[in-house]
Amino acid sequence: MRFPPPSKTLLEQAGEDAPGGQLWSWMRALPETIQRYLNRWRAEWTGESLRQGYLGYVLPCRCRDGNAAILKLSPDTHGAEEQAIALSAWAGDGAVPLLAQSFEETGAALLIGRVVPGVALRPLDDPSGERIASCLKRLTHIPASSVRGSLPSGLERLNALIAANARHLHGLSPSLQRHQDGIIALANTVARNLDPQARAVLLHGDLHAGNLLVGGKKELVAIDPTPALGESEQDIGDAAAKNDWGQDLSTRVRQLAEACQADSTKAAAYARLAAWNSGIFHTATGAEPPGGVDPEELLKYAITGSR
Ligand SMILES: Nc1ncnc2c1ncn2[C@@H]1O[C@H](COP(=O)(O)OP(=O)(O)O)[C@@H](O)[C@H]1O
Ligand SMILES: [Mg+2]
Repeated sequence: MRFPPPSKTLLEQAGEDAPGGQLWSWMRALPETIQRYLNRWRAEWTGESLRQGYLGYVLPCRCRDGNAAILKLSPDTHGAEEQAIALSAWAGDGAVPLLAQSFEETGAALLIGRVVPGVALRPLDDPSGERIASCLKRLTHIPASSVRGSLPSGLERLNALIAANARHLHGLSPSLQRHQDGIIALANTVARNLDPQARAVLLHGDLHAGNLLVGGKKELVAIDPTPALGESEQDIGDAAAKNDWGQDLSTRVRQLAEACQADSTKAAAYARLAAWNSGIFHTATGAEPPGGVDPEELLKYAITGSR
């Protein structure tokens, strides 16, 4: 096709879906869909190709007003709608701005501001987690009550991930399988301890280094949320578990919680749940974690709450 090709994962998954499956049809229509949205939003492909993510398609482009943007196409309309709800609520503060959106049954398109230079965070370049903390403070300052649209709760997201990761467990050690019950119990305890008076906020939900891009003043800008509404400590625990800036995980949780004036005990419980999900996923799939974390360290922390 005249545009850069989609990721290998996408090509493979669409291949399994051929012929006639939804993903396969979406892929086949991709060149036409790209051109249609470029025309509709008066944008032009810059000619560059970006490293593609997992199941979406991203194309760098330039808008009529000269601004750099990214056209992001996805076969997952519901997921894209949720991303759009979150990006509009942040309105460019801590996350990329949403410039235009379109949702169809067969897929969705978002036009978002481009982060320049936009390379992924290298956590070791942020040795005390200050830049992550500063981005987190901006992300978690939106009260749930001012989010327009429907999003799941943070705990619903966590429980869904724990359940989805269970399919990886059979290939891992029996001792890990036994800990799954402990993790479910921990998630239930976190749910029971939810403070009904506490302010629920908009959560990003997937703060690994690949979703934290470096902007022009070295500040971090979040992309690609899996958004939810819940306690700010959930995003703090997620960011601490997914990025290793050279301290052990307990220290990272404490540093971020202090910087965000949040409850560090709560953040630690959320970090254990994030560490479990991430640790299981990366151990089972062998996929390299973007934030330089060690899956073994994650699983140890998830189980014992220390290191
Ligand atoms: N707004 C943006 N500015 C700069 N680069 C971006 C932007 N959005 C996405 N990218 C690039 O495209 C890649 C994939 O985008 P992402 O939204 O994370 O998709 P995925 O859901 O596939 O992870 C990112 O890792 C990044 O390199
Ligand atoms: Mg991503």
